[in-house]
Amino acid sequence: MSSPPLYADLSQYYDVLCANIDYREQCEFALRANKIWGNGGKKYLDLACGSGSLLTHFANADFTCSGLDISAEMLKLAQIRCPTAQLICADMKELITAEPQDLISCFLYSTHYCASIPAIQQTFAKVFAALAPGGLFCFDAVDKDSIANDEGHVHALNHNGGELRFQTRWHYSGHGDAMDLHIHIHETQQQQQFHYQDRHRMTAININVLKQMLEDAGFSVVILEHDFGRLTEWQGASGNVIFCANKFLGEINPFT
Ligand SMILES: C[S@@+](CC[C@H](N)C(=O)[O-])C[C@H]1O[C@@H](n2cnc3c(N)ncnc32)[C@H](O)[C@@H]1O
Repeated sequence: MSSPPLYADLSQYYDVLCANIDYREQCEFALRANKIWGNGGKKYLDLACGSGSLLTHFANADFTCSGLDISAEMLKLAQIRCPTAQLICADMKELITAEPQDLISCFLYSTHYCASIPAIQQTFAKVFAALAPGGLFCFDAVDKDSIANDEGHVHALNHNGGELRFQTRWHYSGHGDAMDLHIHIHETQQQQQFHYQDRHRMTAININVLKQMLEDAGFSVVILEHDFGRLTEWQGASGNVIFCANKFLGEINPFT
């Protein structure tokens, strides 16, 4: 499959941009969730796996790892980083796996990259079909009505002897189901300036709508606050959450 431009140019910067992300903590979170709400099995798939940082932590924890991403450039990096992982270049809404998976993740808000709400619905159905009985799907999401339209995250760091400044911010107009992720990178190398500016369209949605869609797909759902260091039930106030969705015939009650 040919790769669309999304993340192709960004792939050269991607690992630098993600240097502050604690993938070990994400992995430990998912391992705990897998024991509590999953089937505890060791077949793992990372949806929108990017350059494979999370895959390596699961490979080190003796999981059989697969990664799916729409970008061939990102998958090239993932293959180098995690050579044992089986990698699939595809849109997540077309997910099909050769074997049932025990644990599927989709972090860094990547579910919002599904092109539309029906595409998210289709992805949930595919994830449900790909999971073994009792399997767990974990992903994070942001509520469209909580998006502040502020300057987002700005970082500056030393890179290749020069300075790299980057900014990522979401913008949501307040209407409809599209929001934008704005990415701006400014690199200074030996008095030369490089600029990279891009805007990625993402799907805007409410947390309660996502929950209903997961339940319609057959999942039992727990919603947590967006804190990979703790498993804290969502109190309903923040617009930034982690979903744990279990392929289980019955209710799961997280905190009793
Ligand atoms: C923000 S990055 C997150 C990567 C990785 N999960 C991480 O935490 O580093 C988003 C990733 O989603 C991928 N992506 C975007 N749209 C996709 C789609 N429809 N299906 C599969 N992957 C997609 C991009 O190529 C990119 O690698």
